[in-house]
Amino acid sequence: MNAHDSEKVSGTLLEHGYTQVATPEDAGLVLYNTCSIRDKAEQKVFNRLQNFKRAGNGKIFGVLGCVAQQEGEKIFDRAPHVSLVCGSASYPRFGEMLVQLEAGARRVTGLSLDTEETFDTPFTRRDNPHRAYITIIEGCDKSCAYCVVPFTRGPERSRTSESVMAEARRLAGAGYSEIQLLGQNVNSYRDPSPAGWNFAALLERVAAVTGIRRVRYTTSHPRDFGKDIVEAMDRHQAICDHVHLPVQSGSTRVLRSMERQYTRDEYMRRIEWLKSAGRRYSLTTDIIVGFPGETEQDFEQTLDLLDQVQYDSLFSFKYSPRPNTAALQMSDVVPDEEKQRRLVTLQEKQRAIQIRRNAEMIGDIREVLVEGRHQSLGQWIGRTSDNRTLNFTHTAGDGDSLVGRYLPVRVTRSGPNSLVGESVTVV
Ligand code: 5AD
Ligand code: SF4
Repeated sequence: MNAHDSEKVSGTLLEHGYTQVATPEDAGLVLYNTCSIRDKAEQKVFNRLQNFKRAGNGKIFGVLGCVAQQEGEKIFDRAPHVSLVCGSASYPRFGEMLVQLEAGARRVTGLSLDTEETFDTPFTRRDNPHRAYITIIEGCDKSCAYCVVPFTRGPERSRTSESVMAEARRLAGAGYSEIQLLGQNVNSYRDPSPAGWNFAALLERVAAVTGIRRVRYTTSHPRDFGKDIVEAMDRHQAICDHVHLPVQSGSTRVLRSMERQYTRDEYMRRIEWLKSAGRRYSLTTDIIVGFPGETEQDFEQTLDLLDQVQYDSLFSFKYSPRPNTAALQMSDVVPDEEKQRRLVTLQEKQRAIQIRRNAEMIGDIREVLVEGRHQSLGQWIGRTSDNRTLNFTHTAGDGDSLVGRYLPVRVTRSGPNSLVGESVTVV
């Protein structure tokens, strides 16, 4: 979400006549987009701002994103060289704020969360020429006890289906072949226009756009992940063979205290839908270890869930207390050494699962979208529909760039995090 926000902000700057330079030292305007989902984000931001300050006189500095929203005007007091503090819910007004800065204003803010708008712009400057993000819903109406997002990104608001579809068609026309639909909780997408599409309907329509070969989406909330999504996926090969379904914990007791609104059994039902679906879907997840009150037995249930589900990859985090969240008031804090031990145990278990699952791919032929080249290894970098990295050698016509092409590749070797193969000549 943040990477795409930066693409939209950069595009707005270009539209206003700015040009991009290679380093902050060369810039007249430095905007720092920030995340505060975990760790000591605020501290990192202030340290970085100090370094920026040393790097230049006469520059204009701005702080964007979740730390801006969270710390607000305090940023001006701690870092007086900053002239703009703006959270993501105010990006629709970013152009106006730029005009104020140019006119010499030195304490410009965009901090209101009271909005029904989303940040849509035709001027997005995209980092990748083949894969494009499209935001379909911003904000979050859940209240997970550990999570700062509802306080930093504000309430849910969906884009109209017309506007999403128009962007998808424009991207296809411009040569993009992969689209990634974005939102904090894409499953609660609800078209505000009379068409009234839900997420599954939107997903199917985007997958049917001529020229779009791959559609991904992130992130799903299990509570709102309906069977209609699996059915839509089964119907459209263009929807990638991958579902990221963050579980957070394998213990119903912990899920309840996290206010996740589903039990372990309800989560497993969704996994069963996916496992018994028309295609093989790769599953990935997010897990938090050491949430307040998580016992050894709770943690073992998370380990057991990994055995049951067999994820292809996961993101795991030590619980990190966040401002404003309900979990801050909870007792039974898990000591950091114990969180660390659980994190390592979890990651080791998952690594073994991935080594085994990836080894099972050897001999398979998979289609990859070529994303780049490892010059030193003499390999092209490919990504499969199920979101694995599959690097490969390609002998025929090696002088030409393959980036952006779709090619069949035979898997010859595997590791815990990626696969290696060779391109297959199609006769
Ligand atoms: N501490 C640790 N991990 C967190 N996440 C969100 N908030 C916290 C927190 N306070 C993780 C969740 C979420 C992912 C994006 O970040 O696992 O799914
Ligand atoms: Fe945070 Fe929960 Fe919303 Fe995800 S669903 S952004 S974890 S509050």
